[in-house]
Amino acid sequence: MPSPAGEPRVEPYRIKVVEPIRLLSREEREAAIHRAHFNLFNLTSDDIFIDLLTDSGTSAMSDRQWAAMMIGDETYAGSRNFRHFEETARRITGFPYILPTHQGRAAENILFSLLGGEGKVIPNNMHFDTTQEHVLRNHSKPVNLAIREAYDPALDHPFKGNMDLERLEHLLAEQGHHVPLVMATITNNTGGGQPVSLENLRGISRIAHAHGVPFYLDMCRWAENAYFIQQREPGMRGRSIAEIGREIFALADGATMSAKKDGLVNIGGLLATRDRELFDRMRELLIVYEGFPTYGGLARRDLEAMAVGLEEAMETDYLEHRTGQVAWLWSQLHDAGIPLMSPPGGHGVYIDARSFLPHLAHEGLPGQTLAIEIYREGGVRTVEIGGVMFGNDSSGETALELVRLAIPRRVYTMSHLAHVARTVQAVWERRKSVRGFRMTEASEHLRHFTAKFGPLDH
Ligand code: F0G
Repeated sequence: MPSPAGEPRVEPYRIKVVEPIRLLSREEREAAIHRAHFNLFNLTSDDIFIDLLTDSGTSAMSDRQWAAMMIGDETYAGSRNFRHFEETARRITGFPYILPTHQGRAAENILFSLLGGEGKVIPNNMHFDTTQEHVLRNHSKPVNLAIREAYDPALDHPFKGNMDLERLEHLLAEQGHHVPLVMATITNNTGGGQPVSLENLRGISRIAHAHGVPFYLDMCRWAENAYFIQQREPGMRGRSIAEIGREIFALADGATMSAKKDGLVNIGGLLATRDRELFDRMRELLIVYEGFPTYGGLARRDLEAMAVGLEEAMETDYLEHRTGQVAWLWSQLHDAGIPLMSPPGGHGVYIDARSFLPHLAHEGLPGQTLAIEIYREGGVRTVEIGGVMFGNDSSGETALELVRLAIPRRVYTMSHLAHVARTVQAVWERRKSVRGFRMTEASEHLRHFTAKFGPLDH
């Protein structure tokens, strides 16, 4: 169904269940953000009009998924829902050994508990915060090897999530014996939801394997990544998402997945490998941390919903609409002159906070400040991905100072997004008078979740 130029594709679904939302008054929003110590993670859903904090576990499930929940077979061991889930994940990925986990970080915990360790080095295009934390907790060193272009927000590049293959080659040549696996995150969430090309994935796979090192994917947004490959990579237009996916997965030795993204579920994840011996050890840890291997920390009905969601996330109509929504919001902000991560990513629009609020020195926490102002202005919750989230990590990378507007899947309509665009534009108009914030309290690990903030000039 074609859409007028400049507008996203018409929603390929209609709405069957609604959940009321309300925009609090300006005074109520002010009280709420004070109560939250200016940390948007501390707001409650009643405080929020449009929630773009995350695209994780916030999707609307389809009627088919809800129907699947009703055929949950809550058997502890050997549930038929597990068999359906396992068969689906195997068919999509080609990985022979699949374990369900309750979410992505549970899979990361198991993988890095087994492969991490003192003195190990883990390369990735860019680690997500939980991935990095699991690497660090296992006394290993995370290294981000994204291409240089990834750190220049305004620069246009079709595959800005790519890994710098020369740096990977160099790292493996120098320290290969300390590298237990190479990882690639598709799409690169921390760097703007940017895709990795099939050509780059082939290169990573070739280099890793030449050094005898296994290659794992963080595949939580793999279908969005495959859609960009289909649209942007030469010769890929005629290929289906499933075909592109099979080619991607054939390059890798295993994967972690938060199915809360491209599994279209509210909870769920998986861990996959080709290595039988490693799988046996993974399964042991799964039993310790998550539960029996045929439920992995989930209700069996969740496995059934995940089996359906993994398939739905590959539908072209859905992917075209979803990425179109993100691109539409991106162009509304871009046309207003707002500095953004270019081009639009797969799951969200990322604002370059340092260019938005150049008068705030780094101490002024431009990303956190902008996220606070966007909430104050229009009740829209976003998240900082910058100095607060990554500032105290050992990789020392604070090159990007972004505010992410993550779009939940199948949840918001055009007019919701128009409200978001107006809100950000209103902050843009008064940007020169925006005052900075500072952190008043912070924990050592993953501090962004619990930190407290206060105005800089108090
Ligand atoms: N890897 C990536 C690239 C992620 O984006 C996430 C989660 C995880 C792993 C961990 O998965 O949450 O299921 O344990 N990202 C969410 C976000 C939280 O908001 O971007 P999880």
